[in-house]
Amino acid sequence: MSLDVEIKDMSLSIGGTRILTDVNLRVPQGSFVTLLGPSGSGKSTTLNVLAGFLTPDKGQVLFGGQDVKDLPPGARQLGIVFQNYAIFPHMTVGENVRFPLVAQRIGTDHHKRVADMLELVKLGGFEKRRASTLSGGQLQRVALARALAAQPQVLLLDEPLSALDKQLREAMQSELKAIQREIGVTTISVTHDQAEALSMSDLVVVMNGGRVEQAGTAEEMYCRPGTEFLARFLGEVNLLPVAADGSCHPLDVRATDATGRLLVIRPEDFRIEKIDGPGFKATITDVQFQGGTLRLEVSVPQFPAPLVVRSPYAGYGSIPQAGENVRLSHDFSFLHFVDPAD
Ligand SMILES: Nc1ncnc2c1ncn2[C@@H]1O[C@H](COP(=O)(O)OP(=O)(O)OP(=O)(O)O)[C@@H](O)[C@H]1O
Ligand SMILES: [Mg+2]
Repeated sequence: MSLDVEIKDMSLSIGGTRILTDVNLRVPQGSFVTLLGPSGSGKSTTLNVLAGFLTPDKGQVLFGGQDVKDLPPGARQLGIVFQNYAIFPHMTVGENVRFPLVAQRIGTDHHKRVADMLELVKLGGFEKRRASTLSGGQLQRVALARALAAQPQVLLLDEPLSALDKQLREAMQSELKAIQREIGVTTISVTHDQAEALSMSDLVVVMNGGRVEQAGTAEEMYCRPGTEFLARFLGEVNLLPVAADGSCHPLDVRATDATGRLLVIRPEDFRIEKIDGPGFKATITDVQFQGGTLRLEVSVPQFPAPLVVRSPYAGYGSIPQAGENVRLSHDFSFLHFVDPAD
């Protein structure tokens, strides 16, 4: 069983300083929601409120429609994997996973439950190993097994993978998502890693300055950001100002209803053309080969900043050189604008 989670108009101050303002969040039962945002934007504080470690000044936290304000953390049926919620190194793997079952006096056949959980996180047979002998990735799996052992209604994760190197982190992302899907536990996760947020989440919530800036599916947030902050925050972006007459240099578009706004163009929306091809003229100023893709910076006459272009790598010998003149075309299937931030 898992529950839907809702935060309604929640504000929180600590020591007279406002940390969270009017936070609203709806997490459907069984879904995976990621809180994303710059450092200090209030992500961990929001998780701490959900966990019951902090009490809001105003607003409500509801689990399955029930206000949990009178429930202490231990009674909220949570699984928690926080960065600093460490595994006990002097205990064995099995003792670590069994810990919440004993502490919460859950069930009696702990042995089976522990074995099942370790099987789930692909650490079957590790019961007797001392936690201090495990690798970083294995420790995170033990932390996850421990968090899931008591069959929580809600799983809270605060940067659970951030200590791992890139390859292990990516492998663990898939595993974590597969486990979450298998057991269907409502999950609220905090990350700094945009790729992690975009790839794992049913819903992405971007926080900024203690407020929810926007919530939506990863695709919505990426393709239709509501603000300049969001457009810049999620991935790379080119923002082209729309002039008073609706023109949008260097593109050949007229957007008279978007005067004064910014046209959002992602780097992969441009196509590199031959110098006699369609589009506008540009000069390549920087080329980064990134494996499957190329990241280019190009300068454009009468445009102040370099534009960023991402293009698929077309095979050996195809990488263009800095200094090369090209043309850039753009697919106008839809145009999306944001207002400039003040
Ligand atoms: N106990 C506290 N006392 C005072 N200020 C706090 C406390 N906890 C958090 N803050 C402040 O609240 C703001 C939000 O902190 P929070 O830890 O939620 O940010 P975050 O989004 O998780 O950032 P990061 O990505 O760096 O982990 C920060 O300005 C932080 O300094
Ligand atoms: Mg944090």
